[in-house]
Amino acid sequence: MIGNQNATTKRGKMIVICSAKGGVGKTVLTTNLSVALSKKKFKTVILDSCFQFGNIHLVMDLKPKFTIKDAVDQIGDLNKNLLTSYLSSHESGVKILPSPPSPEYADLITSESLNKVCSLLLDSCDYLLIDTNAGLPEHNLYFIEKADEILLITDLEMTSLKNTKSMLSIFDALNLGEKVKIVVNRSTMKSLLKSKDVPKILEKESLHYIPNNFEIVSRSINIGMPFVMHYRRKDITKAIFHIADLLSTES
Ligand SMILES: Nc1ncnc2c1ncn2[C@@H]1O[C@H](COP(=O)(O)OP(=O)(O)OP(=O)(O)O)[C@@H](O)[C@H]1O
Ligand SMILES: [Mg+2]
Repeated sequence: MIGNQNATTKRGKMIVICSAKGGVGKTVLTTNLSVALSKKKFKTVILDSCFQFGNIHLVMDLKPKFTIKDAVDQIGDLNKNLLTSYLSSHESGVKILPSPPSPEYADLITSESLNKVCSLLLDSCDYLLIDTNAGLPEHNLYFIEKADEILLITDLEMTSLKNTKSMLSIFDALNLGEKVKIVVNRSTMKSLLKSKDVPKILEKESLHYIPNNFEIVSRSINIGMPFVMHYRRKDITKAIFHIADLLSTES
């Protein structure tokens, strides 16, 4: 697919970023991958589906005027133009539909409203990235079933790997296995388990790796600037672009 061509002729692709265990790097991957796709001239939107405690807007240093709450409040009248007016724009070109301003609004978001929101977003972008909560809460099941691609992230901790393996079995049972790409984050970190052990543990061969770089990642989160914007030559940035290439050449 050539950048932007998709926007007017076809629907965008939904990429769901998920993990069996929390804190393994979903938000870091979502934000940096979105910027990488945008740099490749794809219209890219992030939906922050951490509806209680989402922080995509913080990690991208945005102060949203509107959130998914506004879209859900107007669901009957919602159309492409109205929804577009609720998106926050990042300097990279990425657009964001942030999580509600307060956790109690999370319960108001139904699968029916998500269906309309996602459908309208997919009509006007090349890639819709969904940053999710860990595990398989109800909304995640909705997203993974709708997904064109699922990026399942793990790190090298035994607990992450064990839970990732369980999640893979569930995906297989739901016939979603073919959509899944496994991403091993912090793959170069000091750990008893090494990244070369992961294919055997997960019984999967084709994995993708993002190296450990706490200094760059932590700094980029704290200043609200995805690291791919400024650290072009770093291995961690190359790993993100590799995933962006993979997604876009397969489309
Ligand atoms: N490649 C990396 N190298 C070094 N540190 C990393 C890397 N990726 C993530 N981290 C660290 O892990 C932390 C958690 O990352 P992130 O917030 O993306 O996880 P998450 O899966 O979205 O968490 P949650 O489940 O709470 O939403 C970051 O704050 C950062 O310190
Ligand atoms: Mg997160």
